[in-house]
Amino acid sequence: MDDGVGQCWRDVADVLEAGVDRLLLYGPPGTGKTYAALAVASGAPAERIVCTEDLTGAEVTGTWMPGEGGRFAWREGPAIRAWRADGGRGGRLVLDEVDRAAGDALATLLAVTDSSASARWRHPESLEWLTPGPGYSVVATSNAEDVEDLPAPLLDRFAVRVRVDRPHPAAVATLAPDLRGPALAGSLGPTSRRVSLRRFYAFDRLRARLGAERAAALVFGAAAPDVLDALAIAALA
Ligand SMILES: Nc1ncnc2c1ncn2[C@@H]1O[C@H](COP(=O)(O)OP(=O)(O)OP(=O)(O)O)[C@@H](O)[C@H]1O
Ligand SMILES: [Mg+2]
Repeated sequence: MDDGVGQCWRDVADVLEAGVDRLLLYGPPGTGKTYAALAVASGAPAERIVCTEDLTGAEVTGTWMPGEGGRFAWREGPAIRAWRADGGRGGRLVLDEVDRAAGDALATLLAVTDSSASARWRHPESLEWLTPGPGYSVVATSNAEDVEDLPAPLLDRFAVRVRVDRPHPAAVATLAPDLRGPALAGSLGPTSRRVSLRRFYAFDRLRARLGAERAAALVFGAAAPDVLDALAIAALA
């Protein structure tokens, strides 16, 4: 039975609440993957890395920084902060657009997402060996349509993968009531015709000042007449 929540969002909540500590969320943009990765069962405030082709290993585990009196000190990166979060218990690390990481950054990400029993890292300053705290978890997100497009060793670290194919109902509920149906309908369907929730947010904000027609032209471009039609039909229902 479809209660509007969608199986994918039930899976995300169930998996994280069951304590699965490596999860990959993938699929179309603007559905709430990052929001859920940061918020659902994360414990302490999450650390986040947005991966790009230019990401370096230093942005994952840390780097030497000049400190007082010109002395260099190691500034820990988000992955190590997540290992240590919550007084050593460990917290959530969110890896956004994880498929974009390459080279040295990818190698470092593979090290810090390895099973917690195998992951260890030597602090360059104190020389102590660190391991992730027991509550450390990693949620990665990607816009890949096909999960097999991700590098195999990365995929291997994320045994549980959920394809998120619809916006989170709580995200849709923040829109004006008349936009909820069209936004949900617009963000389903084939990739080429999908309209991201972010556009509906922008439209919701703009139309209050500019009126529906102008706001639709600005936000939806050539698809504006279709969206206005959908809204008119929804208003009749
Ligand atoms: N559960 C929610 N409650 C309220 N707002 C939400 C919720 N989930 C998502 N949103 C809002 O919806 C928008 C898109 O969410 P988010 O950035 O998480 O999407 P995404 O799937 O990570 O997109 P992309 O793949 O493009 O990175 C954001 O403005 C976010 O604040
Ligand atoms: Mg995201």
